Amino acid sequence: MIDRRNVLALALSSAVSTSMPPVRAAEGAPALGALAATRGLRFGAAVTARQLSSMPDLAEAIGSECTILVAESEMKWHVVEHTRGKRDTKGADAIVAFATERGMAMRGHTLVWPAKGRLPAWIENWPDGEASDLESALVAHVTEMAGRYRGRIESWDVVNEGIEARDGRSDGLRRSILLDRFDERYFDIAFTAARAADPGARLAYNDYGIEHEIPWQVAKRRHVLDLLERLVRRGVPVDTLGIQSHLTASEPFDAAAFGRFLDEVAALGLAIEITELDVDDRRLPPAIEDRDRAAADFVRRYLDTCVARPAVRTVLTWGLSDRTSWINDPRWGRRRSDGLPSRPLPLDETLARKPMWHAIAAAIANAPAR
Ligand code: XIL
Repeated sequence: MIDRRNVLALALSSAVSTSMPPVRAAEGAPALGALAATRGLRFGAAVTARQLSSMPDLAEAIGSECTILVAESEMKWHVVEHTRGKRDTKGADAIVAFATERGMAMRGHTLVWPAKGRLPAWIENWPDGEASDLESALVAHVTEMAGRYRGRIESWDVVNEGIEARDGRSDGLRRSILLDRFDERYFDIAFTAARAADPGARLAYNDYGIEHEIPWQVAKRRHVLDLLERLVRRGVPVDTLGIQSHLTASEPFDAAAFGRFLDEVAALGLAIEITELDVDDRRLPPAIEDRDRAAADFVRRYLDTCVARPAVRTVLTWGLSDRTSWINDPRWGRRRSDGLPSRPLPLDETLARKPMWHAIAAAIANAPAR
């Protein structure tokens, strides 16, 4: 287990932190994190350990804009424990150390991600008839990870993407080895173990595909609400809904309908977090000025709806600069057909503030204090 002192020692010894230039105050308008703090909100972004160690300019921008960080992949089970029993938390530790050195909070992402290929293969291929051992392995993993960063994680994604309506169940739950063996009880097992290992962390259910006003997403909102309601009703320690917010600028958004969904979540007594905001601009025109304006306008409408609600605590973007967005990663096949790079994030590839940065700042500035 890592306590605060150990984290500091780790920070001091890590190559990541010693090669960093000192954090400079943001020039011009206050940084998003500072602005968010005036409203009782946090602003942050996903980072990778490699970005922090190899891109000092980006690390500096992250240090000045953010008050909370999340590891883009370094805490995922299939990354941390690719081989059973060989846990490698170097990347995760480096990110936590970077955040700790700068007094930033952390989100934890994610303890259980039941999508195909997102659980370690040795879990996905767990032999038949060993359900109790599988439960022990799940509890051990959650206990180890949540315990390792106990006191350092403001909010943990305990289960990520647990719903997939295309899997054909009436409750919309995603089929996986965990659902096969435990049915919905795997949520109870994971959340209970997370609470015991780090009682101070908010525990989140995190999902995507609930933001736009299109039929499958509207239907998914219902599945998410029903799931949360069942968890709350039977006393599973869930505290917050993470809404990934991978937005597509060309898809419809209905502020009133989405706002009602947020209100229903809040009425369950849950907090809400915007956990992975970015904008897919593939169907927007190529001209950068028009594209940036349309994406920024979309983000402004979306965030205005979110931060107007006091249940919403944090806004994180999935990366801070277009230079590192997963959308531009050729492995995802999400590149624009004109071959131009996408511009999904608040800073451009030179780290200049884009219209989206100003849209986020304006939405936050407009939010009621909480
Ligand atoms: C993505 C990362 O950005 C990629 O670099 C990685 O290869 C795969 O995962 N929803 C999530 C995130 O919850 O963990 C995903 O992150 C993006 C979609």
